Amino acid sequence: MHLTPEENDMLSGSQGRATQKAMQILVALGEIYAATRCIPVSSVQVAGVSYDNLGEAGLAFLSEMADGGGRVRVPTTLNPAGMDIENWRALGIPPDFAENQRRVLRAFSRMGVTITCTCTPYLVGNLPSFGEHIAWSESSAVCYANSVLGARTNREGGPSALASALTGRTPEYGFHLPQMRLPELTFEVQAHVSGTYDFGALGKVIGEHIQGTKAVPYISGVQAASLEELKSLSASLATFGGAALFHMAGITPEAGMVTPPDKRRHVTRSDLDVEAQSLTDGDEGEIDFVSLGCPHLSITEIEHLARLLEGKLVKKEFWITTARATKNDSDQLGYTAIIEAAGAKFAADTCCVVAPIQGRFTVMATDSAKACYYASGKNRFKTSFLPFEEVVRQAIE
Ligand code: F3S
Repeated sequence: MHLTPEENDMLSGSQGRATQKAMQILVALGEIYAATRCIPVSSVQVAGVSYDNLGEAGLAFLSEMADGGGRVRVPTTLNPAGMDIENWRALGIPPDFAENQRRVLRAFSRMGVTITCTCTPYLVGNLPSFGEHIAWSESSAVCYANSVLGARTNREGGPSALASALTGRTPEYGFHLPQMRLPELTFEVQAHVSGTYDFGALGKVIGEHIQGTKAVPYISGVQAASLEELKSLSASLATFGGAALFHMAGITPEAGMVTPPDKRRHVTRSDLDVEAQSLTDGDEGEIDFVSLGCPHLSITEIEHLARLLEGKLVKKEFWITTARATKNDSDQLGYTAIIEAAGAKFAADTCCVVAPIQGRFTVMATDSAKACYYASGKNRFKTSFLPFEEVVRQAIE
């Protein structure tokens, strides 16, 4: 790789041990992927924040970088932590876990990372614009940033994202290069899709098809898609297909700049229904956990939820996962009071996948295809995949 004098300086160690280590990580990555140079990034999002995933080994790496003088050079936010930083007791998080999670957050904070723990950074101020090079690691946010915002990022691991934060650089390969953003397969949707549930199912249909191929999908036939539907699709495509980018005719910014591939596959209502049904393996009668907010809920979704819960009482453990800043908006707008009066709980800064709740519930109801996948794989829950309104109905019945 060709490095600039400034990058060589970082690599030499004269800017501190952490910066040197960060540059070593980026150069190693660049060499693996045959990058010829590094490019500046303007925004970083780091995954690997929950102590449940990091453990002592991960925390030791973060502490080493903080002790070595690491300091972020570009705005940097975090993926969800293992708990609501303020309200962890009400969610049944053990005190020893809370203390370890705080140690993780302190290490990030010492490096100047903004302690905003969310998989929807684009909803709370970390919003890159079209063509901007960034280094993000949460898979759903990477897919959303590349596809919907038109920003450019690979799916970074936690250490490589942190390395980008500490140097302001990333190796130029993958989705930073225009030729790697071209679609290879057209998916013609021949059904009306609407809501996070349908878009989650669509992500699973396409994801299963491209899994292992790294092909960028071009999606046609979708008439309209809201921010919330696109974030659901992004999460699902990333989970089931490893996709970091899609184009959607008439909707995403690069779709009109590329040629739809001739190689086509149709997606029918029956395809969507089959994949949706495959995400349910729990009995409705056994639902004891209800979770909305994968990816983190927007304020529009929270408003909708408040309308659905107004004057009702929930009968199951019900978590609403969202970014702290979105929760603050909800407080000010009066939605939190309505939702909490119904007995549902906000779980800001965290989510039902990264919190330490393995085995705590039998069947989880959710509108998120991604949450179903991880709840079953990581947390050993059975799942009931339902539309948003139906999830709420299950909670109050
Ligand atoms: Fe976000 Fe957790 Fe889902 S990080 S995308 S809410 S699994």
